[in-house]
Amino acid sequence: INYRNVQFLTSAPTLAECPEDTGAEVAFAGRSNAGKSSAINALTGNSKLARTSKTPGRTQLINFFHAGDDQRLVDLPGYGYAKVARSMKDEWQRHLAFYLEQRQCLRGLVLLMDIRQPLKEFDLHMLTWAVQSGMPAHILLTKADKLKNGPANNIRFAVEKALKEQGLDTGVTVQIFSSTKKTGLDKLERRLNQWLAL
Ligand code: GTP
Ligand code: MG
Repeated sequence: INYRNVQFLTSAPTLAECPEDTGAEVAFAGRSNAGKSSAINALTGNSKLARTSKTPGRTQLINFFHAGDDQRLVDLPGYGYAKVARSMKDEWQRHLAFYLEQRQCLRGLVLLMDIRQPLKEFDLHMLTWAVQSGMPAHILLTKADKLKNGPANNIRFAVEKALKEQGLDTGVTVQIFSSTKKTGLDKLERRLNQWLAL
């Protein structure tokens, strides 16, 4: 797949409005502000493709990107945006849960976590769901440019160890990533290519 050719497809407020459930899809999930939209932009070399923001909660719809014939990348709304009303939060979670459970073409989950605050409650929920439902997951420890290589690698090892200890390592891989420095793009591409193969 040539990720440089990825294009915006559509935004869906609900599952009913998603593109037809065929082919292969990979979803980017994570807490608000983790860097999901930035990662999609870094991957595609198009800084304007997915909207990013310093304000958490920027992405409120399920955004679909066309990556090839019946292959899509999905930018999911972030979890945990404190300034949004409780009812809105519940609404998002419902859509998110619906999407994850219903979407037949979903091949893998890219789970993004700020490397400085990995494995928060939401992340563990997502990983538990992924492992239990046999959905492979790839963790991006994002914003690695904020740390030196040594500390960044130590966090990666600690995350891998914690996953093993909690039985959350089946089908789960972990890598360091930075959208600003483009660290780890090749690794991410390899994982996406495996999942998106038709
Ligand atoms: P929501 O759509 O709100 O869920 O957020 P998101 O996960 O899509 O995060 P987004 O990509 O909008 O990035 C949030 C903030 O983090 C922005 O200010 C980005 O510029 C910043 N950011 C994202 N990736 C990186 C990175 O690799 N390094 C650094 N230093 N900042 C980053
Ligand atoms: Mg976003």
